[in-house]
Formats: sequence, structure tokens, C-alpha cells
Amino acid sequence: MTVERIGVSLEGPLLTDFDRFVAKEGYGSRSEALRNLIREALTRRRFAAGGHVVGTITIVYRHEVGMVTHRLLHRQHEFLRFIRATAHTHLDEETCLEVLIVDGDARRIAQLATRLKTLKGVLSAETVIGSTVAR
Ligand code: NI
Repeated sequence: MTVERIGVSLEGPLLTDFDRFVAKEGYGSRSEALRNLIREALTRRRFAAGGHVVGTITIVYRHEVGMVTHRLLHRQHEFLRFIRATAHTHLDEETCLEVLIVDGDARRIAQLATRLKTLKGVLSAETVIGSTVAR
């Protein structure tokens, strides 16, 4: 892949803040930090626009509340082709953590996340969208 150099002009205070950010986040260079920020912005935009995305939905729930385990499964089956894999672990006697690897239309992924997090017994549901833009 060809890499092109671009020049970026930043005013003093913004550059100072940016350099602090680069150091604090542990980036090796300004370029690496900028690449990541650009990638994140494009991924967010794609998610908002409803394009194709990949990512995960992580849910934590109390499995004895209502029929939550059954309902979670039922709702996942409504989104069959958007879920590539799931992993489940039992955190303690009452609490489970489940990760869904998702792939597909951003709007449908967002709907799935909403369908899961609105269930009684679900303590949290976080969606993380991964970038598919080449590094
Ligand atoms: Ni469990």
C-alpha cells in the first residue's frame, strides 16, 4: 500500500494539547496518533451512516432475573446473520458476561444492541465498532 505524506498546520495551543495526548496515550509518533484519530472518526461516521461494520456487543446480565437468558437468546436469533460468534462466561453465581461478535449493517447492529440492553436483568450493554480501514 502506498503511503502519502501530508502536511498538517496546527496552532500552538492545539499542538501542545495534541502532543500531550500523544505522550499520554503512548503513541510512538504524532503520525500514528493522527492515523488512529482519523480512523476512529471515519468508523464513527460509517456507523452513524448505516454502512457495513464489524465489532462486538458485550453484555453483563443477572441470569436469574425473569426469563432473561431465554429472552436474550430469542432476541439474538432475530439477528441471526449479524452475529458471527458468541462467548459466554459465568462471572459469579448470579452474573454472566456475554460477548457477541457482530458483522453487518450498522443500523441493524445498533438495533440488536438496543434489543439486548432493554431486557430486564441486563446490567450493561456496550457496542464497540472495529475499524476495517487498513493501518
Ligand atoms: Ni452464565
